Amino acid sequence: MATTLRARRIGVLTGGGDCPGLNAVIRAVAKTAILEHGLEVLGIQDGFLGLIQGRSYPLNLRNTSNILDRGGTILGSSNKADPERYRTGTTPDGQPIYENVTDRVAKQFHDWKLDVLVCIGGDGTMSGAANLIPHGIPCVGVPKTIDNDLMHCDPTFGFQTAVNTATDALDRIRTTAASHHRVMLVETMGRNAGWLNLHAGIAAGADIILIPEIPYDIEVVADFCLMRTRHGRAFTTIAVSEGAHPIGGQVTIQQMDYDSPDPVKLGGVSQVLSEQIAKTAHLQCRATVLGHVQRGGTPCPFDRVLATRYGHEALQLVVRGEWDRIVVMQDGRLTSVPITEVANKQRLVPPDHPLIATARGVGTCLGDKIDSCLIRWDTGQPQCDCVSAD
Ligand code: F6P
Repeated sequence: MATTLRARRIGVLTGGGDCPGLNAVIRAVAKTAILEHGLEVLGIQDGFLGLIQGRSYPLNLRNTSNILDRGGTILGSSNKADPERYRTGTTPDGQPIYENVTDRVAKQFHDWKLDVLVCIGGDGTMSGAANLIPHGIPCVGVPKTIDNDLMHCDPTFGFQTAVNTATDALDRIRTTAASHHRVMLVETMGRNAGWLNLHAGIAAGADIILIPEIPYDIEVVADFCLMRTRHGRAFTTIAVSEGAHPIGGQVTIQQMDYDSPDPVKLGGVSQVLSEQIAKTAHLQCRATVLGHVQRGGTPCPFDRVLATRYGHEALQLVVRGEWDRIVVMQDGRLTSVPITEVANKQRLVPPDHPLIATARGVGTCLGDKIDSCLIRWDTGQPQCDCVSAD
């Protein structure tokens, strides 16, 4: 919504899990604010936690220089500090005490004489921002996550770097799979969205790609590994999302973090699958969980450019008075949508997405069915249980 209010002083925070490109956005926001619009910029530490606890420092051209290629966030982050449900203590019998500290946050915002808060984060951070707006804290969002699951936005910054990291891991794993004639599983992050795994799996030519949006049948997965072995490819690589689950079954949970707005921490499905395939198909299996490796490291050039564009565009929203909106990319063009439209929502892979058809078309098994015949590598002729050799 356009407004005639003018911003003079803005706050910037990074919320949720860290991600390659956060510093590139901070740099772009600070430099655009200072150089293009003459605004003052306050860096708020550790996401909403800094707002709750009153921790911040001024950002200037000096402390935002030379950070473009640095992983992590110079401001720090937190995925536990939800002002609406902030842990303030523990009862005598060990139960956590949660309080709504939004009024304290609003007071802090005004004490710092801020006009707008630039929130760099994913759906959880946008949900936090959406809750602050009715308390007189105008927000502008910047879409971050390696999961690429933010509603109305394709792509988020950090995603491409994570795809590169996961692809590199799958490439490396394939050499061991081939040398030892094994089934090798690589588990990627992504929560309940399969974007990261699907992209990395296709990029690395994984034989089986398992994503949350397409529940798998363990018999199909084991059969596909066996068929490859019987037909001359004595190894199989499997890219599996941490959120992948069997048909009619549950996700694999690594741990619960009840202080976090997103308490379910996924992880471990690759080990479960490894044991099931070994038992069913009598093949040697190994699982590798990539984990937070995918969130670290220097952002790739694509993410540096995207992060810089997002940061610069966020400032255009700030100065145009188009507050309470988040910058997004749609069909290759920068635009914006209301923060409330993306808060607490997830963009999943539609089962009819062209990438799914592409994967199936090149013979990749998606775990639900075996819909391509295998080729005998020695003769080049189709030969599998569903196609006659002639
Ligand atoms: O949303 C980013 C992400 O890395 C997910 O892919 C993953 O499930 C989650 O965060 C892990 O969270 P934490 O850093 O709290 O373990």
